Amino acid sequence: MAVEDHKSDKTLWRYRAPAQMDQVQLAMWTELLEKRTGISLAKNRKSFLLTSLSTRMRELGYCCYDEYFQYLIDGRRGAVEWEILVDRLTVHESRFYRDERALSLLQEKFLPEQCLQTATKEQDTLNVWSLGCATGEEAYSLAMLIDDFMLKNNVNRYYSITASDISSASLSTAREGVYHINRLKNVPLNLLNLFFTRTDKSHYRINDRLRKRVCFARLNILHLSRAKLGMMDLIYCQNVLIYFKRRYRQMILEHLVKHLRPGGLLVLGAGEISAWKHNDMQPVNYPGTLAFKRINRDTQA
Ligand SMILES: C[S@@+](CC[C@H](N)C(=O)[O-])C[C@H]1O[C@@H](n2cnc3c(N)ncnc32)[C@H](O)[C@@H]1O
Repeated sequence: MAVEDHKSDKTLWRYRAPAQMDQVQLAMWTELLEKRTGISLAKNRKSFLLTSLSTRMRELGYCCYDEYFQYLIDGRRGAVEWEILVDRLTVHESRFYRDERALSLLQEKFLPEQCLQTATKEQDTLNVWSLGCATGEEAYSLAMLIDDFMLKNNVNRYYSITASDISSASLSTAREGVYHINRLKNVPLNLLNLFFTRTDKSHYRINDRLRKRVCFARLNILHLSRAKLGMMDLIYCQNVLIYFKRRYRQMILEHLVKHLRPGGLLVLGAGEISAWKHNDMQPVNYPGTLAFKRINRDTQA
């Protein structure tokens, strides 16, 4: 077993390769992850699983996978521990203005329809949901886009963004809304000046104007039927479904449709699902995007 010692000033850091895991143990862990989150662990991700588990086990003083497994499935204390572990076992990569095509679909089609057409512009709050929002970049990008559009077009409609994720740690970062300058490269300069305040040499903080509009909440995508959320005008779910098996994806999409107002838009990541059809949803033809509009039966002749 490879053991490396790294000496710092006072502490002795010792790297230990994760212990071996047999096939039965591997099956138990992947099943637990899939049952609780819907995420299916690809075969080539075994080393990621072992490293994440052993790091956490070391922090707690466990050296055996089975003992830690028992701890995790043990009532209340197991539930608290699961919240921490799930953060280590999920991928939280995100970027501001990540999907240019999807955002231009919102800017060119969705927002003009929602905010400038007489039938919709007088409506109540424009409700948006960013699902699997990780550390908040996606939700704040949507807020900037909407706020900027409304400012430029003199629109008075109130908007509100609900942003949810399974990872409590990611949600704390999102709520804090402080980002390193390197993470803000995609934010247009005028919006950076408008919506952020520099806090030190290398960090910027989202201004209250946007923070007030975004509400972060912990929600497991597998428990959407229990979600106490109103009807949405826009559901934005990108780079999340790719981690789920097909049958979970279908189930999740069914629930999302139920949360969408007639005329509302569902935006997924391009190529994330194929051949999905729903009687109430119409594919939106906008190059480089994967989006569906909920059919408004009231306006159909
Ligand atoms: C790769 S990030 C995507 C972030 C953002 N949507 C984007 O595209 O930049 C995937 C997110 O999905 C979340 N996630 C994974 N499984 C989930 C589940 N069962 N319920 C809710 N969120 C989940 C992860 O915690 C992670 O933050």
